[in-house]
Amino acid sequence: MNRLKDQVAIVTGGSQGIGFAIAKKFAAEGASILIADIMEKGSLAAVKALREMGANADHFVIDITNVEEIYEMTKYCTDKFGKIDVLVNNAGIQKPCPSMNLSEDDFDRIMDVNIKGAFFCAQAVGRVMRKNGGGRIVSISSGNSRMMSVGRAPYCISKAGINAMTAILGAEWAMYNIRINAIAPGWIKTSMVERGLSLNAINEAQILSISPVERWGKEEEIADLAMYLVSDESTYIVGQTIFCDGGWSTGILPNALDYIRENDKM
Ligand SMILES: NC(=O)c1ccc[n+]([C@@H]2O[C@H](COP(=O)([O-])OP(=O)(O)OC[C@H]3O[C@@H](n4cnc5c(N)ncnc54)[C@H](O)[C@@H]3O)[C@@H](O)[C@H]2O)c1
Repeated sequence: MNRLKDQVAIVTGGSQGIGFAIAKKFAAEGASILIADIMEKGSLAAVKALREMGANADHFVIDITNVEEIYEMTKYCTDKFGKIDVLVNNAGIQKPCPSMNLSEDDFDRIMDVNIKGAFFCAQAVGRVMRKNGGGRIVSISSGNSRMMSVGRAPYCISKAGINAMTAILGAEWAMYNIRINAIAPGWIKTSMVERGLSLNAINEAQILSISPVERWGKEEEIADLAMYLVSDESTYIVGQTIFCDGGWSTGILPNALDYIRENDKM
């Protein structure tokens, strides 16, 4: 379990949910971790848990919509750990709202966190990686980049943008030995999704009815794929968005598997 021995990874939004699962996975593989998150309390708790695993870990409080703060975070990481090998662009937000009622402020905030923040984190860290001979960037997109959830227009648009960003930066920066890919997760019951459930913007039965594996995803399943994408086992994968969603993106209709069950004669 030493695939990231002596390597340094930044995980934005790493204090909880999918980001924290990725931080734990990378720490277990020997990486030093910088949690870069807007929530100080959550970041401190995450760092404590990583240190209890024996990992070298620290945090930096950041709002990734502020490019100056991104430069400060990048400098903090190189001062503290000496380099940056891996960036996980994981921080993201969503706020359900019918598009007819959406405010400019809400549209801007979601775009600024999900797209602008991810782009400038990649650029700031990418400059450091380029000087040091290379690195890997994994961005967390969403199944909503292809399969739309109504009432989440800016989220869906921003995540489709992550797929495009991954393709273009993957193509431009491969020559600097910076390998860039994205993961589009399906439905994982983190606090982001719990909020959607409590607002009745989504419901559990709907979600399970379009899932070929008929269950929620696990944070660890996303972390396992992130580990693969930053490892030497995926060196020919560049600029791709990989859907990790139990088959949701196959696009089956709700409850479509009932037909198979009812008509399976074997
Ligand atoms: N949970 C799912 O089902 C699901 C599915 C597809 C994609 N995703 C994506 O996975 C990523 C992680 O989501 P999650 O489900 O773990 O949600 P989460 O809300 O638990 O975690 C998001 C993290 O991002 C941080 N963050 C938010 N705004 C920030 C900012 N401006 N600057 C720095 N940090 C900020 C939060 O503090 C939090 O720690 C997001 O990009 C999300 O869009 C989640």
